[in-house]
Amino acid sequence: MKNRVNIDWGKLPFGYFKTDYNIRTYYRDGKWGELEISSSEYIPMHIAATALHYGQEAFEGLKAYRGKDGKVRLFRWQENAKRMHHSAYGIMLAEVPDELFFKAIEKVVRLNAKYIPPYGTGATLYVRPLLVGSGPQVGVKPATEYLFLVLVTPVGPYFKEGFKPVAIEVVRDMDRAAPLGTGKYKVGGNYAAGMRASERAHQGGFASVLFLDALEKRYIDEAGPANFFGIKNNTYITPQSDSILPSITNMSLEQIAKDIGLTVERRKVPFEELDSFEEAGACGTAAIISPIKKITDHSTGKTVEYGIEAGPISSKLYNHLRGIQEGTIVDIHDWTTVIERI
Ligand code: PLP
Ligand code: COI
Repeated sequence: MKNRVNIDWGKLPFGYFKTDYNIRTYYRDGKWGELEISSSEYIPMHIAATALHYGQEAFEGLKAYRGKDGKVRLFRWQENAKRMHHSAYGIMLAEVPDELFFKAIEKVVRLNAKYIPPYGTGATLYVRPLLVGSGPQVGVKPATEYLFLVLVTPVGPYFKEGFKPVAIEVVRDMDRAAPLGTGKYKVGGNYAAGMRASERAHQGGFASVLFLDALEKRYIDEAGPANFFGIKNNTYITPQSDSILPSITNMSLEQIAKDIGLTVERRKVPFEELDSFEEAGACGTAAIISPIKKITDHSTGKTVEYGIEAGPISSKLYNHLRGIQEGTIVDIHDWTTVIERI
């Protein structure tokens, strides 16, 4: 890439960084229109849009990785498209067809190619598809008009520590999502619901919160914007819960764990089991793998410690996942899509 912008890539935080273009299209009269290229950072919005009043919006998150071989890869975009269908189903948005989803992503990545961070900097181009109820309603019902927009922004690691263990705080006095609620969909309301707990955790010096199941507070749900996993006895253990986001990273780590000879268990994980893990981590597109050094219960002060260095299995999983994403490990499951000539 000859024409790259001059950014200190290694120091990029996980934040909004202006790029040149975004892509939009509207769903009107029962069908999606043409993709439009925009250089505006703003969207015109009806004052009675359902997204604004009733939270009728969903989003996705994936990344474009510049590989060691110079190629640009998307990781499992089909899974993000599928999850956006689920979110659309969950809160009654118009569904975005897979071809449209991919076409919009490919186009916006190409248009902003100079913002794709170079290999080896730890930074990547974060791709954020957004699906918004843009049509007006005052009664509580779904919009008839939708906006699908994709923006990109170059990012560093979600947790500023990068691949260094972080401290996490268990929250019991606030819930992110109800057992049969919207926790399994990637909708904005879930994130608003978790903000008070996560800001309190940040103020207490923690990188993130760990939510428990809302019904009994007996089982681990997930870690803020990431799923949770624990490792013991050569086994990768991750919570089964209907109120957590089905993480594509977690799903991939389960497969990689099997590929490298671990046993995998997806099941309810009782809070007490935290004591018995040899390693623990948070995983997600933004977080990649963030090893956990300690987990403190906000209500009781009880703390479980896993050590200040990343454990050997978490390190192996992390390197394997990044290797596939950056083209240095053979992609035997066909997870990556190369965007050619970029
Ligand atoms: N859980 C929540 C609440 C998230 O926001 C995310 C991020 O997308 C994840 C888990 C991880 O999901 P994925 O690995 O698909 O990015
Ligand atoms: C992601 O990992 O892609 C996320 O969406 C997490 C967060 C930034 C909301």
